[in-house]
Amino acid sequence: MGKTKVLTIFGTRPEAIKMAPLIKEIQKNSGDFESIVCVTAQHREILDQVLELFDIKPDFDLNIMKNNQNLWSLTSDVLLKTKEVIEKVQPDVVLVHGDTTTSMAAALSAFYAKIPAGHVEAGLRTFDKYYPFPEEINRVFTDSLCTYHFAPTDKSCENLIKSQIPKEHIYKTGNTVIDALLYTVENHKEEVDGLEPDTNLKTILLTSHRRENFGEPIREICKAVLELVERNKNIRIVYPVHPNPNVRGPVYELLDKKERIHLIKPLEYAQFCTLMKQSHIILTDSGGVQEEAPSLGKPVLVLRDTTERPEAIEYGTVKLVGTDKNKIISAVQVLLDDDDEYKKMAESVNPYGDGLASKRIVEVLKKVK
Ligand code: UD1
Ligand code: UDP
Repeated sequence: MGKTKVLTIFGTRPEAIKMAPLIKEIQKNSGDFESIVCVTAQHREILDQVLELFDIKPDFDLNIMKNNQNLWSLTSDVLLKTKEVIEKVQPDVVLVHGDTTTSMAAALSAFYAKIPAGHVEAGLRTFDKYYPFPEEINRVFTDSLCTYHFAPTDKSCENLIKSQIPKEHIYKTGNTVIDALLYTVENHKEEVDGLEPDTNLKTILLTSHRRENFGEPIREICKAVLELVERNKNIRIVYPVHPNPNVRGPVYELLDKKERIHLIKPLEYAQFCTLMKQSHIILTDSGGVQEEAPSLGKPVLVLRDTTERPEAIEYGTVKLVGTDKNKIISAVQVLLDDDDEYKKMAESVNPYGDGLASKRIVEVLKKVK
């Protein structure tokens, strides 16, 4: 029997971070696999940062990103361009990740070509069609289009069963984000460019990019931050701003050049890990950051009303606070003022993985041909 040809398709920063350790593991097992990597480049600069860090050289780069792109053109570009790649490569299996438009359209492309696909980070759900938008429906589609389902937790396995996915195709593997985090923290200790590390100030790290927070919610987040630095002279806010113009516009309008608020460029992943470690509290609407921060013992306040990642909330290291200005302020203030509350949330436990997810996925892939 020849080698299994695995075509991995991804396009955004979080997909790249979470697929990188898996690609490395597939490449280590070169006796069993031929690895082909295709990036759609739904993201450009912030994808390239990850490819460089993990030294991944794509075989195909579809270079589709446009400024302020829309979901329609993104979907059709991914679908049409991955068709050509799949037809050329003729893989035995396609791998996609998570819930982006790249993931969903690439899984559809594989399905149209009748090539089995594996979904890494399968089974996450809020069960609310528009939160997060369009990711919830992207997940449901991707799960139903794929054959193999690599689910991070018990909860995500249960969600897949509820979605009528055959049990024999569900594998609980942990989340590859923990493989990426542990590898990076161990092997790439980097200072954060342009940021004073030795400060007496407590660092509050902020990230925000979700579509459902565009407009008023993101302005509320900014106003909360302004009031927090005004009230607490011992804190600073560090915000690596996502390049999406719907984020950059209001954020720079409201927070640029304010005392103890540092707006910085999106950080290369190793630097972002350093910044998470240096932070006292993390405020975010990111999925990946909710999964990583508990490993580092950092309390996370989630700037959303729902989450598909309830596990860390159950463990007590993550809280949902939404985007109401006053709710954000009071949740942060409790953590700043009450040591017991802070300690309760700053537990270093991680329900999402143990750093071995990629190895587990590769063992499954060895059996698929
Ligand atoms: C996308 C995903 C979202 C994921 C997020 C991770 C979809 C619909 N959305 O959202 O699920 O959580 O990535 O970050 O798949 N841009 C740049 N340079 C870059 C990246 C983005 O300039 O390197 C700008 C471009 O103007 C681009 C815009 O950001 O058009 C939006 O990018 P897009 O991928 O459509 O949306 P995100 O909000 O990044
Ligand atoms: N991240 C990064 N640099 C940054 C901000 C985030 O490397 O400046 C990493 C973060 O550690 C996590 C991933 O990017 O692994 C999350 O990406 P994002 O929040 O854009 O997407 P989501 O996880 O919400 O889909």
